[in-house]
Amino acid sequence: MENLKELIKAADLEFSQCKSLSDLDHAKAKYLGKSGPLTDAMRGLSSLPSEEKPKVGALINEIKQSIEKLLSDRRKTIQDDELFSQLQNETIDVTLPGKKQSQGSLHPITLSMNRIQNLFHSIGFDLATGPEIEDDFHNFTALNIPEAHPARAMHDTFYIDKTHVLRTHTSPVQVRYMKDNKPPLRIISPGRVYRVDSDATHSPMFHQVEGLWVDKQVSFANLKSVVEDFLQNFFEDESILVRFRPSFFPFTEPSAEIDMSWNDGWLEIGGCGMIHPSVLSQVNIDPEEYQGFAFGLGVERLTMIKYGVNDLRPFFTNDVRFLKKFEN
Ligand code: FA5
Repeated sequence: MENLKELIKAADLEFSQCKSLSDLDHAKAKYLGKSGPLTDAMRGLSSLPSEEKPKVGALINEIKQSIEKLLSDRRKTIQDDELFSQLQNETIDVTLPGKKQSQGSLHPITLSMNRIQNLFHSIGFDLATGPEIEDDFHNFTALNIPEAHPARAMHDTFYIDKTHVLRTHTSPVQVRYMKDNKPPLRIISPGRVYRVDSDATHSPMFHQVEGLWVDKQVSFANLKSVVEDFLQNFFEDESILVRFRPSFFPFTEPSAEIDMSWNDGWLEIGGCGMIHPSVLSQVNIDPEEYQGFAFGLGVERLTMIKYGVNDLRPFFTNDVRFLKKFEN
């Protein structure tokens, strides 16, 4: 019996030296396990005289309960210590400066596209769109450029198959819109266009904004004032130099190219003209009753001038150092 009582002291000492839960499990097995002293003592009960059995049995139980209590106290202490040290290791110094979040911004071409759309919207132009994979009819034939016409060579075309192309300009949207809507018509159509072309001022994929105004009394003077007003607003500068240079497009007559002063010279930013009567007839608009003008502006060129960039290729190489200059 004395030996059994000593067990409590021994267990207490051993448990208090355990530093982890697994140490404690080992110690538990030693005292309360199948081959531990308490189990042995229980087994030995049968050999005791029957009047002693209840007393010794009760004592064994008491000791077992005391050891279990020591065990659970120690377990709690170890768990608390572990939690405390975990909290200490994970302490956050709230006085440290935060991690900087870098935020993206709109691409310069998107900025220009948004600005162009807002400006034309403010003077009553609606928005129209058309497919980038265009059929031969809308990209060429309906615009007075029949097959084998030399004007097709003006566009270095990406062919998808014999009758489909990546549209070379936004002008096919004019045709689609005029076919589906009755005049008066006033739209712009911004979008991507494609040509086999690449140098500092030419990209194989670029953006144009088509403009179209069809009504009973529309003149070249209206065309000039709409384009000039737009450019003054786009560049926020009334003193910009713009010139209309006589030119040729099969779908307009008369036609002009629009140039802006740039780097001591001129940069072509678009083409324009009065819609050719045969284009109007194609879409069942009577050219005797209606006239219209159209223009197609190169968005990369406008953006180059606006931001003083001499080469449009970096717009598409995604060099963040270049793009950061346009952060907004
Ligand atoms: C046309 O595409 C005509 N559709 C414009 C037009 C519309 C005329 C309506 C009359 C009536 P052009 O091929 O000139 O025209 O192109 C128009 C503008 O697109 C050019 O002035 C230029 O600013 C831009 N551009 C042309 N090719 C490229 C290119 N490869 N990369 C970047 N911009 C280009």
